Amino acid sequence: MSKRIGVLTAGGDCPGLNAVIRSVVKCAETHGYEVVGFLRGYEGLVDPVSYVSLNSNNTTGILSTGGTILGSTNKGRFAAATGINDRLDLDPVLLAGVKATFEQLNLSGLICIGGDGSLAVAQQFHELGLPVVGVPKTIDNDLSSTAFTFGFFSAVFCATDALDRLHTTAASHERVMVLEVMGRHAGWIALYAGIAGGGDVILIPEIPWTFDAVCDAIIAREHKGKKFTLIVVAEGALLPDVGMVTQDKSESQKQVRLGGIGAYVGREVERRLGKETRTVVLGHLQRGGNPTTFDRVLATQFGAHAVRLIVEQKFGQMVTYNPPNVESAAIIDAIHLSTVKLQSSAVQAARALGISFGDGSKEPPFKYVEPV
Ligand code: F6P
Repeated sequence: MSKRIGVLTAGGDCPGLNAVIRSVVKCAETHGYEVVGFLRGYEGLVDPVSYVSLNSNNTTGILSTGGTILGSTNKGRFAAATGINDRLDLDPVLLAGVKATFEQLNLSGLICIGGDGSLAVAQQFHELGLPVVGVPKTIDNDLSSTAFTFGFFSAVFCATDALDRLHTTAASHERVMVLEVMGRHAGWIALYAGIAGGGDVILIPEIPWTFDAVCDAIIAREHKGKKFTLIVVAEGALLPDVGMVTQDKSESQKQVRLGGIGAYVGREVERRLGKETRTVVLGHLQRGGNPTTFDRVLATQFGAHAVRLIVEQKFGQMVTYNPPNVESAAIIDAIHLSTVKLQSSAVQAARALGISFGDGSKEPPFKYVEPV
């Protein structure tokens, strides 16, 4: 009887998905498995079941490409709210359909590549007794149990490039430039891009901030002769007295869409300081395009480890990166929200450089705190 592994990509896409798929196919072939790729995320598992046969010929050349050759969706019948705490229990009829597909295709295992919501769905399959393993993906880098998700550094690379570009024009025109980046409820992209791109103010969901402190930071720079300022704001940062800035939620989406805070920040800074300010929303540019070298390597290791978990029949596990090793943890324990720790080395280094988090915390010398 043939041995067969299924693979699918669910939720929002990110650079590196194709690298995982390629890795899964190559490693599965080495172990004597054939591979089928389900289309459009979990939707391909049921009614109508839609999949393609994958092999090392039809996956050649995809290591370096963005997006996913299998398609993905974060809407529809399997759309889940964030993480395990918020999960939506799936319709039993739908689950029965998924089970039937596993049986009809005689799947030895299904590799679900997804973020917290998508892996909460994989957990439900596992609870049903289906042989699944998870591979974490998201540009947001917001999953517990893994130091990094692939896609994150590609997004940071894009946001850093945007800051490099904003830097030169901001300096030329002595303007304040506000760059809004993604990340949902975590400030990882803003923090890393802010550090890599020489941001002066970084506003993230984890640190409450005020316009007074942001304006003080801009004025302090002016006093030092620096007539321009780069502000990086995470889409999930909390606008003082308002909270999260959201867009309309479509009927088919379970998660509220974030975005729009950059415009508020730009307008208010300009109003208070009378300084010319421009705002850029990076949007989906940071989710598209080719994966960075780091993300290719991480994605490849994740794919290989996922196949290994299936070969060893370690189901219900999610692949994790615990530098320098790729390991695994139970999905149920691994998909809690991971946010920026205020005492982390990155935050402390940023503060030591004089980067403001808009919280009025003093510029150096300040007290270093041991990371926990
Ligand atoms: O979770 C990844 C992410 O890109 C978030 O950073 C962002 O808030 C969201 O997805 C955007 O989702 P959509 O593609 O549905 O607009």
